[in-house]
Amino acid sequence: MRISIIGTGYVGTVTGACFAHLGNEVICVDVDPKRVESINRGVPPIYEEGLDELLKAHAGKNLRATLDYDYAVSNSDVSFICVPTPTDENGKIDLRFVREASRSIGERLKDKGSYHVVVVKSTVVPQTTQQVVTPILEEASGKKAGLDFGVGMNPEFLREGKAVHDFMHPDRIVIGGDDPKALGIIKGLYAGYTCPILEVDTKTAEMIKYVSNAFLATKISFSNEVGNICKRLGIDTYKVMEGVGLDARISPYFLNSGLGFGGSCFPKDVKALIGKASEIDYEPILLKTVLKVNDGQPHMLISLLKKHVPDLKDKRIAVLGLAFKNDTDDIRESRAIPVIGSLLAEGAKVAAYDPMATDNMKKVYPNIKYAKTADEALEGADACIIATEWAEFKKLDSFKSMRKPVVIDGRRMVDPRGKDIIYEGLCW
Ligand code: UGA
Repeated sequence: MRISIIGTGYVGTVTGACFAHLGNEVICVDVDPKRVESINRGVPPIYEEGLDELLKAHAGKNLRATLDYDYAVSNSDVSFICVPTPTDENGKIDLRFVREASRSIGERLKDKGSYHVVVVKSTVVPQTTQQVVTPILEEASGKKAGLDFGVGMNPEFLREGKAVHDFMHPDRIVIGGDDPKALGIIKGLYAGYTCPILEVDTKTAEMIKYVSNAFLATKISFSNEVGNICKRLGIDTYKVMEGVGLDARISPYFLNSGLGFGGSCFPKDVKALIGKASEIDYEPILLKTVLKVNDGQPHMLISLLKKHVPDLKDKRIAVLGLAFKNDTDDIRESRAIPVIGSLLAEGAKVAAYDPMATDNMKKVYPNIKYAKTADEALEGADACIIATEWAEFKKLDSFKSMRKPVVIDGRRMVDPRGKDIIYEGLCW
């Protein structure tokens, strides 16, 4: 199949590279010449495990990138919209890029002789494909959806850092379509997959994406609330959740308590679902509380720290981990941001370390000290905070170089036993 991908962020680039790997002819379109040039050279514009190899193997062969919509739409049969959908200041999603992409595709469909399917992959709130994308496509092309061209919605369930693996080995594929021809063509793209493929209408597909992320975020906030209770009762919440997660109806995943969730998806998607619910006159009490619990965890961690170091003024605090999770350089909504903010507000001197995310955090906090290794950050520190679940923190052995070996663990990375340290787990 000939596919065009609109937008080469992490979803677009991974989708394009994986579809090329599955044997399709792929053309990626972006407005950024640097990204286009990078993909054509076979160099990923973002870090994503396994993407390097895929681009090397397919760039210049069955994977190309261009700035030219005309070329991309006229040389493909299916276009995937993979542009960002940020939230505005009220928590509602900003559809500017989705609208622009829809208009640009629609204008090219005007003169296109053959049938074309437009698929929304960007995360959009329910009814967006039907009420925003389709009308723009129809207006710009002067053609009728469901008749002259098809429209679909195919949400992504890709974890950052594991996106290539998740694309190739999904738990399920959800295909939304408001007409059978479009549905059939989209389904054909996933012909070799053995996982369940769910066919629904576009608004149901959109809702499945939001509810999946909102549910995972809820599991985390629930685990954090349980963890906060366990901490006060002297119970190890990780043992509790191990016991709870063995129930097949619950599953053992996303029950790790600690500093809470960050990233470009969970906070944004929960806010957008809250925004959509309020728009239709429903107050989503549970979802609001999910965010409230999440926002409270960094404060809880600072309170624990102050139990051991009551006056943080001029104290050197090592913050280990800046990325929103391990194996990525992404710091969007990272829990380390409010943690460092509180430390600075209390007059502490922060020495931060992250194996990948330092450069990104320098844009947020240019004036703190950035160490090249965890050991360097710990040297002479009055306390240490672990904010990201990097595997290397499990092997840390340099607490003795601290002035006072106080470790506040937000991710359960350190084994306190056998080490001469004052240890506090956030929820255990
Ligand atoms: C998430 C979803 O997992 C993907 O399925 C989805 O496709 C993606 O959002 C998206 O909408 O594009 P991602 O944001 O990459 O993926 O990160 P996750 O691995 O889900 O982790 C999110 C946050 O939750 C991290 O800050 C992590 O530290 C935290 N987390 C995760 C916990 O605090 N506890 C857990 O048990 C699991």
